[in-house]
Amino acid sequence: MTTQEKSIVIAVTGSIAAFKTCELVRSLAKQGYPVQVIMTPNAERFIGRVTFQALTDRPVYVSEWETGMVHIDVKNMAGVFAVVPITANTIGKFANGIADDIVSSTYLALGCPVLIAPAMNPGMFAHPAVQRNLSVLRQDGVQILDPTSGEVVCGDSGQGKMADIATIENRIIEVYRSATS
Ligand SMILES: Cc1cc2nc3c(=O)[nH]c(=O)nc-3n(C[C@H](O)[C@H](O)[C@H](O)COP(=O)(O)O)c2cc1C
Repeated sequence: MTTQEKSIVIAVTGSIAAFKTCELVRSLAKQGYPVQVIMTPNAERFIGRVTFQALTDRPVYVSEWETGMVHIDVKNMAGVFAVVPITANTIGKFANGIADDIVSSTYLALGCPVLIAPAMNPGMFAHPAVQRNLSVLRQDGVQILDPTSGEVVCGDSGQGKMADIATIENRIIEVYRSATS
């Protein structure tokens, strides 16, 4: 793992929207951006790491216990850190300083811009606990790519659908360029 060239670090968490992150990672890698993917163990229930490994031609980290202090290596290489999608669970961890997996541990160690793209059931998104946690993250300087309204996979309607991948991609590139220029 090189720390000389800053990477776009994409963290994936356990949402049904995780399949959309494959397109995002493919598009960024195809344009020549250095992309490093990390995942929570629950994200791997949705998408296998081998998919992201093939798309980025890099190892994908899911556990800190496999190869040493990965969260420190990843934070050193990060030019921007984008969590796409981010679950209610991981939002709660970030807002409360809980670091019990590679994604939340890396988040606490970071010194680069952070973007998050929430995706969840509209009832979850509207819950005061989630809104409270998002407000804490906003105050902490995290850029939130708001979910849109519409029908989500479970059939419910309301705000909770992850922002459009093209919108997320453009914002990541913009922030990465300004952070690394
Ligand atoms: C089929 C399925 C879809 C899910 N989709 C979401 C989702 O879109 N957003 C969310 O916040 N949680 C979702 N969950 C619940 C999370 O997977 C669960 O809260 C998990 O603990 C998140 O772990 P992580 O944040 O460590 O990845 C889903 C669970 C299942 C079984």
